[in-house]
Amino acid sequence: MKSFYVKTFGCQMNENDSERIVTILRRQGMTPAASEEIADVVVFNTCTIRENADNRFFGQVNKLRERRAVDPGMRIVVAGCLAQGEQAAIFERAPHVDVVVGTHALGSIAQLLERSDGERHVIDVTEASDGLDPLADLVAEPTDGHKAWVTIQTGCDNNCAFCIVPQVRGGEVSRPFQAVVDEVRSLASQGVTEVTLLGQNVNSYGRDLTRRMRREEIESGDRGFLTGQVYVSDSIPRIRPLFADLLRAVGAVDGIRRVRFTSPHPKDMREETFQAMAESPMVCESLHFPLQSGSDRILAAMHRGYRGERFFEKLQLAREIIPDLAVTTDIIVGFPGETEDDFEATLELVARCEFDSAFTFIYSPRPGTEAGEWRDRFIAPEVIAERFERLKLVTERSAAAKHHARVGRIEEVLVDGPSKRDATVASGRTRQNKLVHVAGLDGDRYRGEYVNARIFDAGAHFLHGELLARD
Ligand code: SAH
Ligand code: SF4
Ligand code: F3S
Repeated sequence: MKSFYVKTFGCQMNENDSERIVTILRRQGMTPAASEEIADVVVFNTCTIRENADNRFFGQVNKLRERRAVDPGMRIVVAGCLAQGEQAAIFERAPHVDVVVGTHALGSIAQLLERSDGERHVIDVTEASDGLDPLADLVAEPTDGHKAWVTIQTGCDNNCAFCIVPQVRGGEVSRPFQAVVDEVRSLASQGVTEVTLLGQNVNSYGRDLTRRMRREEIESGDRGFLTGQVYVSDSIPRIRPLFADLLRAVGAVDGIRRVRFTSPHPKDMREETFQAMAESPMVCESLHFPLQSGSDRILAAMHRGYRGERFFEKLQLAREIIPDLAVTTDIIVGFPGETEDDFEATLELVARCEFDSAFTFIYSPRPGTEAGEWRDRFIAPEVIAERFERLKLVTERSAAAKHHARVGRIEEVLVDGPSKRDATVASGRTRQNKLVHVAGLDGDRYRGEYVNARIFDAGAHFLHGELLARD
């Protein structure tokens, strides 16, 4: 019996794809191996969002070069976004790789492996036909028994000047409403209580599922329609499922206690989504709202489709509608042409937004993207490094304040397991997605359980809690 090991480099969607790869390989009768050093089949599920993601992959795959040379039965598979975007470079820089499989061809990984028995350098990076559900029949087995990712949409129709995702993931395709709800039902029946809905632009979910209303539907005047089908407006006789409906429907699935999602795009975020979050008790008070820059000039150059002030207004609306909302963000430092004034506008807006935490990235030119060509506007690395540190001070200040504000409160914690550092401490997440270490709780025994903890201390990246009562 052959063994496999899947190594994931990218975002949550990439992790969800890895879970699909695991399902496919298990169905082939393969068993998981403890590490890539001993596995017969090693799958690298790659990411190419920034250059360091590429480099990390090439570093890891090259470590297997010697072993592959002496082990004819071993196979190395490269899947994911880098595989889709840089097919040629992979075989050039790592000729010991056997199979390259792109993001659209994931489902054929078993057949490609089979082909590699008689063929050197097997590759499939064909793109999916438009509008088809690329994930149909590709079941993902959740890695954790109590939490699961659910991809609701693949690809992206935006054209942010810095971003490679549309190139490597294709255009936006929404999975059918009922397919998503059925997947969540099936997960819940297996014991999953928390789901995170995934997409590159979740609140444009359903845009590609819009359909013209049938005459009987228009004439009946009935605005109820099918589950998840919302009437767009009186002047446009069309219906489509909205992301807000999906949130409500997923939150209503028996057994589901927490619903999260990532990422929405600020330009498409609408009040109805905030309303659905507030009204659906299972949807967590946690929002990832990627700002990218606080300078209107840079936001325009990035093609983000909003100004700083508009972002701030939407954020305030979200906080008004959803009590106790935690907000995280993404910010890029050193986008081509970013002046000191632009950067100061970012610092200022970030300070006003008071994020719970921020993922800050150094701009990385990606081949084939619009901004990747703007070499004459690239910012010197030492300038970026200095800006990066200044930004961190501002984001850490609000993060610490938000953490300290939770001291003395009672939080519901979903236990993920024992803390990595101390086995007498259990770690888990609050509804706001904050990491909590609960003292004196057996993390193995309580894995997947909801407990109430009183927060007695706060660090920069986690909270300390004591067990109050079992739920
Ligand atoms: N669809 C998501 C983003 C996915 S990529 C969204 O729109 O929010 C995750 C984050 O990586 C982005 O929000 C951005 O901040 C960062 N990123 C993307 N391309 C980048 C690049 N070329 N250099 C640096 N950071 C980048
Ligand atoms: Fe990239 Fe922009 Fe699409 Fe996000 S919305 S995946 S940043 S192009
Ligand atoms: Fe995700 Fe990286 Fe692809 S962030 S979509 S795995 S390029």
